[in-house]
Amino acid sequence: MAFFNSLLCTFVITCLCLGLTHGAPNILFMMADQMREDAMGCSGSKAAITPNLDGIAKEGVRFDKAFSSTPTCTPARSALLTGLSPWYHGMLGYGSIAHRYSYEMPRVMSENGYYTHSIGKDHFGWNKTANSGMSHGYNSTYLYDGLEENSEFDDYDHWFAKEMPGVDPMKTGLTFNDYRGRPYALPEYYHPTAWVGRSAVDFIQNYSRSEPFFLKVSFHRPHSPYDPPQRWLDNYKDVKLPLPYQGGNWDERYAVKYNTTPSPGIWCGDLGSEQVKESRQAYFASVSFVDEWIGQILAALEKRDLTGNTVIIFTADHGDMMGDHYHWRKGYPYYGSAHIPMLLRWPDTVKIVLPRGSTLSQVVELRDIFPTVLDFAEIEIPEDVKLNGSSLKPLLLQEMDWREYIDLEHDICYNATNHWNALTDGHTKYIYQAYFGNEQLFSLDDDPGELHDLSDDPAWKKTLLMWRERLIKQFQEEGRGTDWVADNKLVQRVKGQLYSPNYPKTTS
Ligand SMILES: *[C@@H]1O[C@H](CO)[C@@H](O)[C@H](O)[C@H]1NC(C)=O
Ligand SMILES: *[C@@H]1O[C@H](CO)[C@@H](O)[C@H](O)[C@H]1NC(C)=O
Ligand SMILES: *[C@@H]1O[C@H](CO)[C@@H](O)[C@H](O)[C@H]1NC(C)=O
Ligand SMILES: *[C@@H]1O[C@H](CO)[C@@H](O)[C@H](O)[C@H]1NC(C)=O
Ligand SMILES: *[C@@H]1O[C@H](CO)[C@@H](O)[C@H](O)[C@H]1NC(C)=O
Repeated sequence: MAFFNSLLCTFVITCLCLGLTHGAPNILFMMADQMREDAMGCSGSKAAITPNLDGIAKEGVRFDKAFSSTPTCTPARSALLTGLSPWYHGMLGYGSIAHRYSYEMPRVMSENGYYTHSIGKDHFGWNKTANSGMSHGYNSTYLYDGLEENSEFDDYDHWFAKEMPGVDPMKTGLTFNDYRGRPYALPEYYHPTAWVGRSAVDFIQNYSRSEPFFLKVSFHRPHSPYDPPQRWLDNYKDVKLPLPYQGGNWDERYAVKYNTTPSPGIWCGDLGSEQVKESRQAYFASVSFVDEWIGQILAALEKRDLTGNTVIIFTADHGDMMGDHYHWRKGYPYYGSAHIPMLLRWPDTVKIVLPRGSTLSQVVELRDIFPTVLDFAEIEIPEDVKLNGSSLKPLLLQEMDWREYIDLEHDICYNATNHWNALTDGHTKYIYQAYFGNEQLFSLDDDPGELHDLSDDPAWKKTLLMWRERLIKQFQEEGRGTDWVADNKLVQRVKGQLYSPNYPKTTS
């Protein structure tokens, strides 16, 4: 009897695998929250221990000039949902993701025959009627949003309360915007990274539907709290961690000194080299813990024989300054905050010209993910829909027509003075600091850490003017009005603007 059962089992599994192999590819879309571009071995870091991410890069492509246009959680996720630039999805800073967009990634995938499931962090807000997160068309969700409020809807919080009655899930003693690092105070089985990773492994192992899947696996870490298991902190004990980019000619004013221990949520300050080291060790260890679970997820895919027909994407919503220029957290135009990892491994079933293991240097952004997914799934974008992002697939086919530069911006964040617009082609970065009405210019090729602001350098005057003209043109084309540009000049803006007129009006 056991023999027949196992025979039947093999038969069923074979059929399922065949069904998927001949259909559209599965999409495995993985992301981390607050992960810097240089926190991976494959991006050249000698410190980062990330063999599984390096493996995706080796078997696919790495984009070394990838950006998050609006580098905080919610606007970045709105770019992922919509494939649009900040002005057109409407979130210019850290606001609330609209409840519905007219054309949004999970809904379009569901409506075109994919089974769509989201694990981990969505940050979409809560639907109290459905007693869960806003779905945006996901067929199902299993959420760890990592937010203090509304945890009654959070699946991880429910699970934890059942498994560990009376225990505080934040027992490690760190907060959600903390600069400090500590070993996770509970057995690592209960860590949100392990919960998200394990849930993804379970999903892949148990998947038995006939539709191809679109699986989003969204890790909350290395976002604070920097709370990796002790064993991962130990693995970094003897690793020489990169020192923060500090000094240069512009960042001194952020080197605020504190007489007493600064509060955990500060955004700038000179916390001393020992604190930077502690934070960075725990941060890199948190990245490695995520990487380890990505290894488990890839192994589950391989075990089901699905690697050959799955598009694998990895990115992050934004980075983390980690003390660069005495800045902490994100929401800035600078390297640590706005540059992100972007990896893509294409399935064997798709003909690609580019050799596996290549690095591409076109400027790409989160808005490009949605059109890329549609392209691999062979879903056509309706004629009346225009996305601002572009599919990355033509780049893999070496059809090289691509945008020259990308726009970045963020509304007021942490302090009245921090709101800005920026443009970059990956070689030069131009920043307009709206509150002061002043500019910054960095030559990324010579100065990747952005230590030397060249905006006052006569040798760079022509370059500065060219970029300024480009920003003026962008504002004019978008019709931003006289709060932004008047008489062909950028307007100094003391007040902020969190939403553009394009933000969807219906919020119910
Ligand atoms: C997934 O969502 C789509 C679109 O709403 C729907 O047509 C499909 O039936 C759903 N699949 C399942 C299994 O619920
Ligand atoms: C909230 O959930 C309810 C019940 O599932 C559903 O009818 C409603 O459309 C959802 N609202 C939004 C904005 O998604
Ligand atoms: C999925 O598979 C795992 C083993 O990988 C098993 O422990 C779990 O109960 C299964 N979950 C569901 C919902 O079937
Ligand atoms: C961006 O997308 C919006 C909305 O679809 C569209 O109106 C606009 O023309 C696009 N702009 C560019 C530069 O692609
Ligand atoms: C924060 O904003 C205030 C104005 O509201 C300004 O005086 C101060 O310099 C800013 N802090 C930093 C570190 O830029």
